[in-house]
Amino acid sequence: MKKKISAKIANHVENITVDEIYDLLEIPPTTEMGDFSLPCFTVAKKIRKDPVQIAMELKEQMEAADNGAEFIRIEAVNGYLNFYLNRKEYMKDILSLAMQDGYGTDMEGAGKVICMDYSSPNIAKNFHVGHLRTTIIGNSLYKIYAKLGYQVVRINHLGDWGTQFGKLIVAYQKWSSRDQVEAKGIEELLRIYVLFNIEAEKEPALNDEARAWFAKMEKGNREALALWEWFKEISMVDYARVYQLLGVDFDFYIGESFYMDQVPAVSAELEQKGLLQESEGTNIVPLEQYHMPPCLITKKDGSSIYHSRDLAAALYRRKEYHFDKCLYVTGMEQKLHFAQVFKVIELMGYEWYENLVHIPYGLVSLEGAKLSTRTGNIIYAEDILKEAIKRSLEIIEQKNPDLPEKEKTAEKVGVGAIIFHDLYNQRIKNVSFSWENVLNFDGASGPYVQYTYARAGSILRKAKADSLTAIDAELLTAQAEYELVKVIALYPGKVKEAAERYEPFILARYGVELAAAFNKFYQDCPILTAEDGVKAARLGLTGLVQKLIRETMDLLGIECPEAM
Ligand code: ARG
Repeated sequence: MKKKISAKIANHVENITVDEIYDLLEIPPTTEMGDFSLPCFTVAKKIRKDPVQIAMELKEQMEAADNGAEFIRIEAVNGYLNFYLNRKEYMKDILSLAMQDGYGTDMEGAGKVICMDYSSPNIAKNFHVGHLRTTIIGNSLYKIYAKLGYQVVRINHLGDWGTQFGKLIVAYQKWSSRDQVEAKGIEELLRIYVLFNIEAEKEPALNDEARAWFAKMEKGNREALALWEWFKEISMVDYARVYQLLGVDFDFYIGESFYMDQVPAVSAELEQKGLLQESEGTNIVPLEQYHMPPCLITKKDGSSIYHSRDLAAALYRRKEYHFDKCLYVTGMEQKLHFAQVFKVIELMGYEWYENLVHIPYGLVSLEGAKLSTRTGNIIYAEDILKEAIKRSLEIIEQKNPDLPEKEKTAEKVGVGAIIFHDLYNQRIKNVSFSWENVLNFDGASGPYVQYTYARAGSILRKAKADSLTAIDAELLTAQAEYELVKVIALYPGKVKEAAERYEPFILARYGVELAAAFNKFYQDCPILTAEDGVKAARLGLTGLVQKLIRETMDLLGIECPEAM
């Protein structure tokens, strides 16, 4: 509709393109001010005319051209040109579009590949709240891109290589046992790792031992690698529980260790391209010219490092998946790291450096959230999810004790609440955590949107109506129905905007907007007691909204229970 109107306006103004008008065209805050509005001030500057005058002239010309087909009226108010749509036509158009399968789906991504690098926890360390964010954001972006037709390759770039494994081997041999690790899993690994660091303060020789073990790993020592494999397995069991709770999956778990032996080739290429420099025994690519510290490629002992393994990974992915874009979702503290890696790829002469995108996010703080910590002062993602589920179950017990499948529902509500809370603001904003906000059923929360979904379902069940039936738009004449259809119309644009900006929050907000518009409709327009024709149309609308809420939530990675 916006495009259509822009094109029509452009017919009547010179020296301005449809796209320019499209960018200027606004949706006013309330319908009384029009359905669309063009502020004529920018146009006025371009064609050197008074904006009030332009608005009045356009009103005359466009009304004459339209003759009531698309607009019931057009108004010129103080330099604004306000369009009032012919609601009947508009609602018919939107509803028939929205009823089609795959509404909001787009083929912009057809034939294109996006690599997504997200979650990527560090083996033998706990899956903490920061990893929860990359997992949630990454999963949502994956779903959004898939909806737009992209082929998405989901990669878990596990932190499974580095000197910390040398430390862990030493610590394991000194202070733990197979039984203990098997019994307590990652918690035990973390315990001995923390212990190592404390002991190494007192006895620095421990660090030499650790380095020696890591060197053995790099040289392929069997005993060292077997332990490392095992630590990895133990950790994966722990992560798998979190992924299962979140409903998150990956196409590949290819960790840093995989790239270790590709680093020499990267070094050689850098050398051959004249980019590599020796610096106190290490090899670096200087980036001073670009106002960054040098990018470390190999350490003194020749071993690889986080940066060079990322360089190797980017080259590998490009060769293997021919990506059009490669996205990295990590905390914003890694901004410099990715800037360095991308710069080196650019200096190597690869034009596709432009398609590497770092997608940073802010910190999580746990305001007033009392969470028991297991080891040290560390908060496990799993504990937060479990706590949310527990609290949801308590609320359900209180409000709806007869609900069937209470546990299952509590899981969807609790996990959904955490995901929604994470995705409700721009990524870069810090997430501050309070249970009141996370589980607030009335505010802008996951449970609020889920509850609206369940309510729509319950109306349909009561009426024994099919969830998707043709809607006679002519019978939907109430203001709240019109407002609801307008929100329905926004869906495809929101999906695209979320993808373009790498911002799931666009869809989280949309979910709330849609739920609120539906609740207003539900309040204003009786459904089950309306006369037959109107009732059918309203049930049809209810079914459509129910489907759109489910889809929107699915794009965020949230499941909606049928009843709550
Ligand atoms: N393992 C890293 C961490 O926990 C994140 C890895 C991100 N991906 C990458 N290709 N560097 O901080």
